[in-house]
Amino acid sequence: VIPISQPLLGREVEAEVIEVLRSGQLAQGKKVAELEQMFKDLTGCRYAVAVSSGTVALELALHILDLDPRDEVLTTPFTFVATLNAILHSGATATFVDIDENGLLDLDLLAEHMTPRTRVIVPVHLYGLPVDLGSVETPPGITIVEDAAQAVGASIGDRPVGSFGVGCFSLYATKNITTGEGGVITTDDERVGDAAGLVRNQGMKGPYEYVMPGHNYRMTDLQAAVGLPQMRRLVAINQARRANALRYLDGLSQVGGIALPISPENRTHVWHQFTIRVTDEAPITRDDLASRLAAGGVATGVYYPRLVFDYECFRDHPQIRSRPLPNASMWARQALSLPVHPGVSPEEVERVIHLVKEAIDA
Ligand SMILES: Cc1ncc(COP(=O)(O)O)c(C=O)c1O
Repeated sequence: VIPISQPLLGREVEAEVIEVLRSGQLAQGKKVAELEQMFKDLTGCRYAVAVSSGTVALELALHILDLDPRDEVLTTPFTFVATLNAILHSGATATFVDIDENGLLDLDLLAEHMTPRTRVIVPVHLYGLPVDLGSVETPPGITIVEDAAQAVGASIGDRPVGSFGVGCFSLYATKNITTGEGGVITTDDERVGDAAGLVRNQGMKGPYEYVMPGHNYRMTDLQAAVGLPQMRRLVAINQARRANALRYLDGLSQVGGIALPISPENRTHVWHQFTIRVTDEAPITRDDLASRLAAGGVATGVYYPRLVFDYECFRDHPQIRSRPLPNASMWARQALSLPVHPGVSPEEVERVIHLVKEAIDA
């Protein structure tokens, strides 16, 4: 079976991990500091704070902004639940804005959702495609917290994601770069960068010197060691994904009823997922196509089957505000991700293309 994701480890990762194990210093922070430096270099930000997950990165970023229930956070309904959970934990109210033709927060709709209480915008660089933040002018008092969980290495023009306000990356097992579990916050904002470092470590400035209430959100050196060799090969890793994406784009270009992902000129897509839409014009449904591919030994993914707040546990939630979101609902019905990770060979991409065509033409 061709899996939908597969971590890219290998001998360099083993060597880096063994070095930590042999040193006997599992919590020294040396490898974590190295990983943070790589994220500073990647984003051009002055601060990079490694934490235990992408969810924690989002929670910590929003926590530092000191929000209350009257404060509003604008975000997309078409995302993983971590985006919403982080907003709910911050105490603020989530307002959902529909998505655009690329499946991303529709920037043209932002203005009509802004109120004097809007404090934060959380764009999600979904599937590795950045939201076009270069074109957004944020009024004073509004912070952009980028959910860059799926977009390590992506950029908008010359500007890397994670550098537009506060960047939140995930290093979870399925991501382009992984430490098993892990996350990184990046920012140029001194107050946010300092506070993130402090809250991550029990609010301690030095040993037992508490300066604010904190938590244990630390990443370990063992995890950082897993990520370092991958980060050194980040460009090649993302390039391998891109090569597979280009093969799909070429091979599927003439298939009726299938909408293909676009990579706009000014943005570097890092192809965390290659997501097609099985439109209403297609002769079969998304779920039927997924079944046909599964029968042919190809795993697929539905990211995401429902709008993020469309669950019983969020119904009538006092911190959730939404209205009908037709485009997001359409994507939830039609989106299907095909395996694009570097472990997929060109022959395997051809096999997937063949199976898709066969299923559509049958
Ligand atoms: C869009 C998005 N946001 C946030 C997260 C949370 O990251 P993590 O799983 O590292 O907590 C993920 C990934 O799981 C994600 O895909």
